[in-house]
Amino acid sequence: METLIPTINRLQEVFLTVGAEVIQLPQIVVVGSQSSGKSSVLESLVGRDFLPRGTGIVTRRPLVLQLVNVAPLQERQKIENGNGVKQNAQISHPGVKAEEWGTFLHCKNQIFADFQDIRREIEAETERNLGDNKGISPEPIYLKIFSPKVLNLTLVDLPGITKVPVGDQPEDIEAQVQEMILSFISNPNCLILTVSPANSDLATSDALKLAREVDTDGRRTLLVVSKLDLMDAGTDALEVLLGRVIPVRLGIIGVVNRSQHDINTQKSLVDSTRDEQAFLQRHYPSLASRAGSRYLAKTLSRLLMHHIRDCLPQLKTRVTVLTAQYQARLNGYGQPVEDHSATLLQIVTKFASDYCNTIEGTARYIQTSELC
Ligand code: GDP
Ligand code: NA
Ligand code: MG
Repeated sequence: METLIPTINRLQEVFLTVGAEVIQLPQIVVVGSQSSGKSSVLESLVGRDFLPRGTGIVTRRPLVLQLVNVAPLQERQKIENGNGVKQNAQISHPGVKAEEWGTFLHCKNQIFADFQDIRREIEAETERNLGDNKGISPEPIYLKIFSPKVLNLTLVDLPGITKVPVGDQPEDIEAQVQEMILSFISNPNCLILTVSPANSDLATSDALKLAREVDTDGRRTLLVVSKLDLMDAGTDALEVLLGRVIPVRLGIIGVVNRSQHDINTQKSLVDSTRDEQAFLQRHYPSLASRAGSRYLAKTLSRLLMHHIRDCLPQLKTRVTVLTAQYQARLNGYGQPVEDHSATLLQIVTKFASDYCNTIEGTARYIQTSELC
């Protein structure tokens, strides 16, 4: 099933390349108030440190983060040398000597093998566009992370919901952020990952409120309760996590991310995940197997599969329509186009028909598998 997602990602790229209408693909969008832990949650899903995080407004432009699963370096090198079995592990950037790396759309050919450099580039690109005041912009930064350790997911990190303008922020900052969030989550093909800190009242969660606006029956909203470790002594989030305070149809998952102190002292994600598990075992033994960052990652990939399944018929129709349009344009060239001339249009057309086959194959596969 995971082979479906690179296919979708590739398709999106081809359509972007030729400037065609982009098919709205399933994405996971993180929504929450400022400093609720959105960027931290995303980092733990990716398993690497690379996002600017911290107190105050840090994320000021949407970050569209596409995770691409690749084979381990050793295997990729074998494949490149012609003596490995090429399976799902497509070679995206032949010759890259890193196990994991990132690329940005705004500087496509640059390979970022150092994740600290990725963080710096996000910050630099944010400032290039916005200056270093506290303003926000709806123009996304596109980042791809290639790694043997990631699930194939597209995630979107957004600026947090904020009430009071600070620095050079405009008076209507709250409305601006809300509009930006709504523009992402109103896409019916996205899963909304709301993040609410355990130490604030869930009933007033702006994230859930916004999600409800566009997802009235809650079919694509999931709740992450962060900062379980910061609750007042003598209180816990059990009732919240069990869905007894506010039910969330797709589930409520408690997590413990790294604190600001952990970030300052460069605590590793491995240590953090281990400590998170220990914390959950100690404080929520009955829920420990259904909480934590790893469980969140699993849940998301399962939800994505279900979601893709539900979107297949509609996607197929759109691909068919687009294919016909491109075919007509190709025919309109008047002269036969040689196979080897490999125009972009041909690639798209060929790809679209492959894609239809993939959709049909996937639909059959899902129907007969026990995943759903
Ligand atoms: P964002 O603004 O929603 O993206 O939030 P960040 O991920 O930047 O986190 C904001 C601050 O809260 C940072 O200082 C984090 O270290 C801290 N933080 C986030 N999640 C947790 C958590 O689960 N526990 C603790 N103790 N701190 C957290
Ligand atoms: Na923040
Ligand atoms: Mg953030």
